[in-house]
Amino acid sequence: MTITGSVGDNSWSPDSWRDREIKHNVEYTDSKELNVQIAKLKSLPPLVPAEEIENLRKQLAKASQGEMFLLMGGDCAETFESCNSNEIMDKIKILLQMSLVMIWGMRIPVIRIARMAGQYAKPRSSSTEVVDGNTVLTFRGEILNGMDVNDRKPDPKRLVEAYFHSATTMNYIRSLLGNNFADLNFPHNWNLEWVKNEDVRQEYTNIIKSLADSFDFMKTIGNNPLAQTVNSIDFFTAHEGLVLEYEEALTRKISPISVNKTNSDSLIKNNLSFSSVADLAKKSNSRNVNEYYYNTSAHFLWIGDRTRQIDGAHVEYFRNIRNPIGVKVGPTMKPDELVRILDILDSNFEDGRVTLITRYGAKNVDKNLPAHIRAVQGTRHKVVWCCDPCHGNTVTSPSGLKTRNLDDITTEIKKNIITHNECNSKLNGVHLELTGDYVTECIGGSEHLEHHTLPTKYKSFCDPRLNYLQSLDIAFMISKYFQKGE
Ligand code: PEP
Ligand code: CO
Repeated sequence: MTITGSVGDNSWSPDSWRDREIKHNVEYTDSKELNVQIAKLKSLPPLVPAEEIENLRKQLAKASQGEMFLLMGGDCAETFESCNSNEIMDKIKILLQMSLVMIWGMRIPVIRIARMAGQYAKPRSSSTEVVDGNTVLTFRGEILNGMDVNDRKPDPKRLVEAYFHSATTMNYIRSLLGNNFADLNFPHNWNLEWVKNEDVRQEYTNIIKSLADSFDFMKTIGNNPLAQTVNSIDFFTAHEGLVLEYEEALTRKISPISVNKTNSDSLIKNNLSFSSVADLAKKSNSRNVNEYYYNTSAHFLWIGDRTRQIDGAHVEYFRNIRNPIGVKVGPTMKPDELVRILDILDSNFEDGRVTLITRYGAKNVDKNLPAHIRAVQGTRHKVVWCCDPCHGNTVTSPSGLKTRNLDDITTEIKKNIITHNECNSKLNGVHLELTGDYVTECIGGSEHLEHHTLPTKYKSFCDPRLNYLQSLDIAFMISKYFQKGE
């Protein structure tokens, strides 16, 4: 048994997945060009530093113990075009606002992870589709091919393009958070004009007012630890680790300062300069203490419901990256299979190493969740239980558009909270497909969107997302039910 990410595990290497059967594989026709692009990726710097990954590991360990709550959210799939200031800003804003509602209502610190800066690949049910009578390859996300029917051949150059779009997104998120963007959105200027029901609007307004009061109070007393939490916003990124060529190229052996003798917190507190940090890093590197394999493309990665085969390539790749990881758990997962997956992915029994992102559909929670909870309770694995109330509740609207009903999403979350409580367990997080924009892709919510309104602002080319107000609806609802737990 070796520590996760350890370089001493000779049975694993960043490319050992290549010997396994792989689902949703990409057939590149130009292998020479693929090698050129992979070599380029390998030469580029990490998108996230190992120290931040270590920080997230610690926070998720706390979530697995019920001391923090995880909020994950973002697009089903990012596009290169969506890498623009408004869309990035709106998504960060809604995630911040939701987290604040939840911290306030649930009285628990919230970990924010955005499905952003790398969420460019999609598993598809079929590799081909018929367009205007012609059979063409399906669109699989811009890291692989183009939306245009004439651009469906997987192009290796897109791997590097995805890296640079991720880097740009990440850079902009960091610049926003480093320049008081969080302050500006806490909790002033919240737009509730779309809330149709007068009582609901009043209730939300009251909550926001009391949030604003607490926030102002915290700022006034300044030195309070809570105020510091708000002022130094942690924000993490995540995507589905589907394209293993890309993930492998960004997997690096690193000896992070924070897990070695030197503690990164003390570096920050003491305000050490870049050069002194580098000196210390050099010293610890020279001893090669605690070197681990990190996937540096994101802080957190997850395995999709379609690629979680026990003997498959994705589980093999994920089992020894140091990052905290997620596994989507759908209704076809058998309880004993879940335990076997955990035994592989969390062989060292590290709290919060694995986040189980359950996505059954509102009607299937009762049938599946209790058995899954009991199976995990029978082991030494301490997971983060996270509810994805979106992917099991996708339906086709009469117009032919894919949609989700907010009632189903709400029901799935409530059933998760109740079931966990009944099983002497606790829901530790939610995973949502959302955007900060006013799209009309899901029905229901306090704006009362209906099927016939969907075409007015339906922008997703993939799964339907909650819009700004529907996302807030969910945050208000979670904070209300989490406390009651019934
Ligand atoms: C997704 O999260 O976009 C997705 C495809 O989910 P799942 O793997 O649960 O189907
Ligand atoms: Co999706």
